Amino acid sequence: MEAELSLDFVSVVEEAAIAAARTMGRGDRRYSDQMAVEAMRRALDTVPIAGTVVIGEGERDEAPMLYIGEKVGLKQEYHDTVPEVDIAVDPLEGTNLCAMGVSGAITALAASEKGGLLHAPDCYMEKLIVGPSSKGAVDLDAPVKDNLRAIARRLERDVQDLVVVVLDRPRHEKLITAIREAGARIRLIPDGDLSAGITAAVLGTGVHAVMGIGGAPEGVLTAAALRCLNGEILARLVVKDEAQAERIRSMGIRDLKQIYTTQDLAPGKEMIFAATGVTEGSLLKGVRFFGDGVRVNSLVMTCATRRARFIDSVYLSKRPDVRISLF
Ligand code: FBP
Repeated sequence: MEAELSLDFVSVVEEAAIAAARTMGRGDRRYSDQMAVEAMRRALDTVPIAGTVVIGEGERDEAPMLYIGEKVGLKQEYHDTVPEVDIAVDPLEGTNLCAMGVSGAITALAASEKGGLLHAPDCYMEKLIVGPSSKGAVDLDAPVKDNLRAIARRLERDVQDLVVVVLDRPRHEKLITAIREAGARIRLIPDGDLSAGITAAVLGTGVHAVMGIGGAPEGVLTAAALRCLNGEILARLVVKDEAQAERIRSMGIRDLKQIYTTQDLAPGKEMIFAATGVTEGSLLKGVRFFGDGVRVNSLVMTCATRRARFIDSVYLSKRPDVRISLF
């Protein structure tokens, strides 16, 4: 599956990124999201898979497209010859970032064999994300200062030299104080803990950990990326009330306090993760429109076949005098 499908999935995230980028700065996050969703949905139907959306835009009654359980991929009549695949999508991660033209918006998708991605509920999730060097050194229940010391030790540096990414939210006040007291530096981001999580697992990005509470669906996508990057996410659902707890139980999750590992969130043997930059980011460039076409920057990774490819694609316009530049 990985070798045959990864480039198809790159096209899917690229199409969504181009559609979203057209709406950049319009100040309308819903519209940006809708454009990305429609483009991703259209593109998915050209991929030779019998796909099922397991993480998507929400339940069927609240999302007209890419809802959980929706079948995607080439039409039914071909289903005997194509692989069955579970798909987790975030058609536009950082809807506000795109709507405001701020850096860090991406489109993302993960695919695995059936059962390879946790069907996480649409609730919050407490997350601790580190790169390969710090794998096995952190504990979700340990005090922040202990985790920071452990990461620093593994990276052979002082805690003062660490950068932790945290979503800029009032709920993180205590966490931010604890990180500051431990002496580490913080990068507060307005949105986008999925791309931050990927960044933490890539050497040289200057990000050493991501801490705090974000979306559970983004947590599963992060885990899929980290499986390919050999990073680690430790996570626990944050359940807001009894009604939500009931809903989560009805999805088959018994232990609401379970600590999930990367492998628990994305257990698939085969795993593809693909993302394209929408606005400028530290890992991926944003979509660039020019007279002769559109240039997009993507990352596609596979777990079993162990590939990470950074792809620079140019979609050329149909003009007869079309030119491609080096940059
Ligand atoms: P959207 O792309 O849906 O706007 O989500 C962005 C995001 O910042 C995620 O990266 C993060 O996991 C989640 O929202 C945090 O949720 P909240 O904005 O409610 O704190």
